[in-house]
Parts: sequence; structure tokens; C-alpha cells
Amino acid sequence: MSQGKVLLVLYEGKEHAKQVPQLLGCLENELGIRKFVESHGYELVTTSDKDPEPSSTVDRELADAEIVITTPFYPAYITKTRIEKAPKLKIAITAGVGSDHVDLNAANERKITVAEVTGSNVQSVAEHVIMTMLVLVRNFVPAHQQAITGQWDIAGLAKQEFDLEDKVFATVGAGRIGFRVLERLIAFNPKKLYYYDYQELPAEAIKKLNDVSKILNGRDNIVERVESLEEIVSKSDVVTINAPLHEKTKGLFNKDLISHMKPGSYLVNTARGAICVAEDVAAALESGHLAGYGGDVWNQQPAPADHPWRSMKNPFGYGNAMTPHVSGTSLDAQARYAAGVKDILKEYFDGTHNYRPQDVIVIDGDYATRSYGDRKK
Ligand code: NAI
Repeated sequence: MSQGKVLLVLYEGKEHAKQVPQLLGCLENELGIRKFVESHGYELVTTSDKDPEPSSTVDRELADAEIVITTPFYPAYITKTRIEKAPKLKIAITAGVGSDHVDLNAANERKITVAEVTGSNVQSVAEHVIMTMLVLVRNFVPAHQQAITGQWDIAGLAKQEFDLEDKVFATVGAGRIGFRVLERLIAFNPKKLYYYDYQELPAEAIKKLNDVSKILNGRDNIVERVESLEEIVSKSDVVTINAPLHEKTKGLFNKDLISHMKPGSYLVNTARGAICVAEDVAAALESGHLAGYGGDVWNQQPAPADHPWRSMKNPFGYGNAMTPHVSGTSLDAQARYAAGVKDILKEYFDGTHNYRPQDVIVIDGDYATRSYGDRKK
């Protein structure tokens, strides 16, 4: 007789899972937690069958599960209706960062704890953001395409190729990832680094950025907080989104806000696909108002084959730097979030519930963080 059920939802690793055992985040390798879970008397059920609600394995298994573990890379949506049908559910753990795939308000109503492994992949995502900026601004994808298809048309590439140096950058959301992006951008000698966030960056964080810029590039006071979203996007050559998805960020980058962006600017979104209106982004790229859009998050994951972001291009045929949701799931990140899930489970199994404060998103019927909306806690 088991103590209870742990439901783990992960993408399939197939032959890759065998080739690389460090691919902990896939179905076959189960975050390396099976023995640990079973040693605490719990049953572990692992599945990749998450859609559609209500007829998937997730629906069936969640009905009597006490713990559910999911990842943002292959999200099993823990919706209000799924929660209503899971009377034993006590905790939802995100293997990674970003718990918007759980209906947080419904979790609060039922006093279900939602925890994630905060910080586990913020460096991985920040690197992906910088890479995507470079790929777009330096027009890498079409250039690589020429290299492997036997072409050599330099003018055709250089007509939309720029430097990051001397450009103006903005991050919408300046938490762990947003700050790291700003930090890394200083290496490229930017003209200005703007941020938009209802939580102000600590003075010492701003000082650090300004000091490094002064030492490296001889430019002082490059960091500035901007309190209007329209203003920040209108001033910037490259905008990156690094805020969680919640009621106030869903559809934030729509036709109207994008119309305030500088013509020919770039938008990089590794936060969540639904923060942007997919059709509005595609239309802005296709008209040339945006020179490029890139990121790894989609409003539906896996994205359907005909998703507009797969094929959209600017009038030159460039400007698409989309990838599947990989930025936060490097092997280094997988090791960190697998270990973090184990730590959270240990606290749960031991009954101590002494979670790292930064990992707790909602608990005891309320939000424990200000990241998922400005609730003036
Ligand atoms: P964080 O909690 O450290 O920072 C988020 C920041 O966004 C906070 O400072 C918060 O005040 C701000 N924010 C919230 N709503 C805002 C709004 N309406 N406007 C402006 N700022 C707002 O989170 P972290 O670690 O930086 O991650 C941010 C998000 O990135 C995650 O919630 C997740 O959605 C996404 N992410 C994506 C990954 C990927 O693999 N692509 C991996 C990790 C995170």
C-alpha cells in the first residue's frame, strides 16, 4: 500500500534518452527521482500523454495523485477543471522556472502549494536571449543557410546586418533573467540599457551594471528605469521580454503596443509565448515594422506545424529566430532542476515543508511572490 501517488509529466526522450543519460528531464530518465520517491513509500507514475483534456493519461492519473511534477518545456496544463477533479492533490512542482501552466488562482482556492526550482535555468535563458539577439541583429540564419547551400551573396546578407554595439536595449521584466541579460549585454558596449518592472532593481545591482560599463566601455549611467511600456519600446532597438505570464502580461505585446516599437527593431521573447499575440507579431514582422522576432516559447506547446511563428519572415525573407522550447533545458540546467525537484520533494515527504522561500509561488491559499502580478504584498 503506497503512501500516495506522484505524477510526473515529461517529454519523450526516445533514443536520445539512452544515448545521453544526463537528459534527466525526459520520460525515460524521470529526473532521476524514481528510487528516491519509492524509498519514501510513494508510487511514481510517469507519462508524456497530457492532451487533450479530459481524456489523456494525465487526466486519469491526476484524479488520485497527491503530487504532480511538470515542466514548462512540455507543459501539462493543470487547469481549474483538472484541479477540481483531483481531490488528493497537495502540491504542484515545476521542474524548471515558470508555473503559469498551473492555474494559480485555482490552486489558491484549493490551498494547493505550487513550487518551482527558482534560478535553476536563469543563466541558460539569459545566454539564449543574448544568442537570439546576435542571431537576429547579425542576420546569422540566412548567412548560415547560404554557407550550407553553396551560395555566396554577401550584399544580400549585409543589407540587414548590424552590430549590437551602440544600440539601445530594453527588458520588460528585470528579475533573475532580465538582470542577467543586462549584465551580459554590457560586454557589447550598449548605448543604453532600459528596464520596465514594477519592482525596482536594487541600487547595488544598478551600480554594478553602471560600474562595469564605465570600466569596460567608458560609458557611465547606462541603466535607466522607464515607467511607461509604450515609451520604453519606442526608445529601444532591441526589446526582450523576461516577465512571467499572468493576467497582466497575457497578450501584452499586441498590435497596439508593437505599433509603438521602433520601426526596424527586434523583439526577443524567451518568457512565455502567450505574452505576445502570435498573429500580431507575425503581421509586424511580415510588414517589416519588426526586423526580427526570436525566442523559444510558444502559445501552444508543442506548437502546431502551421503555427505562424514557424514560417513568418520579414520582407527580405529574414528575421525569424524561433526554436522549440530549449533555452532553459540545457544539460546543465536539467541537472540543477532535477536536484531542485528532489529538494522540494524531500521537504514535502519529511513533512517539514521548509522550502527555499524563492521556490514557493503559492502556498496556504495565497501568492508568496510578487513576480506573478503586482499584488502589493
Ligand atoms: P523572476 O521572478 O526572477 O523575475 C520576473 C520579473 O518580472 C519580476 O521582477 C517581476 O516583477 C517582473 N514582472 C512581472 N510582471 C511584470 C509586468 N507586467 N511588467 C514588467 N515586469 C513584470 O523570474 P525569472 O527567473 O527572471 O523568470 C522570468 C520568466 O521567464 C519565468 O516566469 C518564465 O516564464 C520564463 N522562463 C523561461 C524559460 C525558458 O526555458 N524559456 C526558463 C526560465 C524562465
